[in-house]
Amino acid sequence: DRAAPVIAIDGPTASGKGTVAQRVARALGWHYLDSGSLYRLAALGALRGMAGPMSLGDCAAPSPDADEAAIAAFAARLPVRFDGDRILLDGADVTDAIREEAVGNAASRIAVMPAVRAALVDRQRAFRRPPGLVADGRDMGTVIFPDAALKVFLTASARARAERRYKQLIEKGFSANLPGLLRDLEERDRRDASRAVAPLAPAEDAQVVDSTALGIDETVERVLGLWALRRGR
Ligand code: CDP
Ligand code: CDP
Repeated sequence: DRAAPVIAIDGPTASGKGTVAQRVARALGWHYLDSGSLYRLAALGALRGMAGPMSLGDCAAPSPDADEAAIAAFAARLPVRFDGDRILLDGADVTDAIREEAVGNAASRIAVMPAVRAALVDRQRAFRRPPGLVADGRDMGTVIFPDAALKVFLTASARARAERRYKQLIEKGFSANLPGLLRDLEERDRRDASRAVAPLAPAEDAQVVDSTALGIDETVERVLGLWALRRGR
């Protein structure tokens, strides 16, 4: 439904996009799209051999032999079911598995593949329904919803983001080490920002919000304030 308004919230890893976008969606009574989860699902499928035996190479490093076509075909038919707050991939509950850092890193590696990105475009746009959609990711405001009514680029220092991710992983019972996380995060930033297709960058008409020194409540207030301003115009 092209008429439904979209608020796009893009930004680097652990900037708080997901948390803030969900809270804004709830406050407005709108739908919510976590676009990163689709890349994570496609990556998990590739890691588990669901997209063909060689699809992600040996998974340990960026793999030149990764089979882009096979992963794209898997992404296009992505056998996912959203069942309440559980996510099922080919019937298996992967709600927690897709949140692991290894899967996030694999997602960032398959996200450089143009065919994989193309395979996910329509699925993302299908989330746009009345009364509105809050979508978070890397290219919501630039590629998927270029006509979004409000575009926010949410960022924070690498250090603050690594500390947030660290806390989040520990709270979920995963193991984590801060220097390793900071290194992975900076590498992911570089890969997301330097890829040829849909690189991570603020849309020209995006409002940049730096949350290094802001709590979640304040950031949500800031975004809702920007939306109120936008509507009042
Ligand atoms: O979706 P994204 O990777 O950008 O980040 P997130 O998963 O929403 O947030 C990462 C962690 O940072 C979560 O545990 C949030 O609660 C926390 N956070 C924070 O402490 N302060 C903020 N201003 C925003 C997020
Ligand atoms: O939570 P975090 O920001 O680390 O990751 P995510 O939003 O779940 O996305 C995982 C990976 O998918 C990112 O590192 C991006 O490379 C990729 N992604 C993308 O390319 N485009 C999107 N719209 C969303 C995610």
